[in-house]
Amino acid sequence: MLRTFFHSGFKSEKMIRSYKKLFDNNEKWVSDTNKNNPDFFNSLAQGQSPEFLWIGCSDSRVPANELTGTAPGDIFVTRNIANMVVHTDMSMLSVLDYSINVLGVKHVMVVGHYGCGGVKAAMGTKQVGLIDNWLRNIKDVYRLHETELNAIENESDRFNRLVELNIKEQVFNLTKTSIVQNAWANGQSLLVHGLVYDVHTGLLKDLNISIGDISKVESVYKFDLQHSLQ
Ligand code: CO
Repeated sequence: MLRTFFHSGFKSEKMIRSYKKLFDNNEKWVSDTNKNNPDFFNSLAQGQSPEFLWIGCSDSRVPANELTGTAPGDIFVTRNIANMVVHTDMSMLSVLDYSINVLGVKHVMVVGHYGCGGVKAAMGTKQVGLIDNWLRNIKDVYRLHETELNAIENESDRFNRLVELNIKEQVFNLTKTSIVQNAWANGQSLLVHGLVYDVHTGLLKDLNISIGDISKVESVYKFDLQHSLQ
């Protein structure tokens, strides 16, 4: 059936098979899930109230639910190249606003990963294309931590450290948003975390940089919330 539907686009049997497999897998997943929990889809259809927002890398090796052993409905997710929190990114800001103010998530997690192609590219000088503009945000992170990074002789250690520092700066970027600052000012329980995933071991590590109030935000980034609410 799929073959006739996509008659002109698919050039080989192999392409058709790998695409069709997604639907076969989906049917099996529905059937297995219904066997284990007959109410699963009924219950999910009522709505979502996830406790977590995951801001991760688009890298196919770092899927939020699988590696945390969670189910659909547990984690609200946005992913982009190198798990960035860029203040002109309307998609990320909308996800952040909606998840905090409508869904009421309690934890916002920036999840980076070792071996990140985006971070690697940002360390180099090669022009890649449109993405250079996005990766420039990581170069800014490098410049902020240049002394520490340049002192690391081993390139792969330096790469790993930039992955971690990039996560840390994106956590700080979250705390600079009026969305997060207003949530704290309104007394919402909200923690922002930085995590790193190791593609070699499959292990997720907390970077111990969680922030739960305005006190750690540098004064230049603090909004006068009393004033803005008047
Ligand atoms: Co990546």
